[in-house]
Amino acid sequence: MKYLIFLIFPYLLLSETTFITPMEYASRLYKDPRGIGCQLCHGDKGEGKIVAEYKHKKIKKSFGGSTINKLPYEVFYKALNTRTDGMPRYFLTDREIASLYLFLHQNDEVKKTKEVKKTKKEKQVVK
Ligand code: HEC
Repeated sequence: MKYLIFLIFPYLLLSETTFITPMEYASRLYKDPRGIGCQLCHGDKGEGKIVAEYKHKKIKKSFGGSTINKLPYEVFYKALNTRTDGMPRYFLTDREIASLYLFLHQNDEVKKTKEVKKTKKEKQVVK
């Protein structure tokens, strides 16, 4: 009986985080990917961000992360599995990478339908 409690207890602790949607999970992972959060260098939505501006030999330079919410999946995946200058190495699983990609592309479908509507309107104008 004592052992049963030991078995159940961790489950009770974990169950709180079990009932989150895939997007909530992805959003949390983006901000805390077992290391420094992606948003600190790439912006809250992966739009890119300048972290610091400085002068090196009187030439203005800047450091920051590029836009990462418009990349094809292969490029995104590869960047997270190779060493990238200026970026920490994360060692994420394939599922975690897919989840981050989902987070960065959550509004893509909406944009696409808007584009379709636009082209339909444009066609009407041509007529
Ligand atoms: C300390 C700052 C920093 C953090 C934190 C960081 N990155 Fe980066 N990242 C960079 C820099 C610098 C580059 C390379 C230069 C560039 O593309 O701007 C880069 C490049 C990338 C690229 C390749 C971009 C391309 O166009 O090929 C991807 C994808 C990427 N990061 C994703 C992530 C994800 C996902 C996270 C969180 C798990 C993350 N980064 C966290 C700084 C950072």
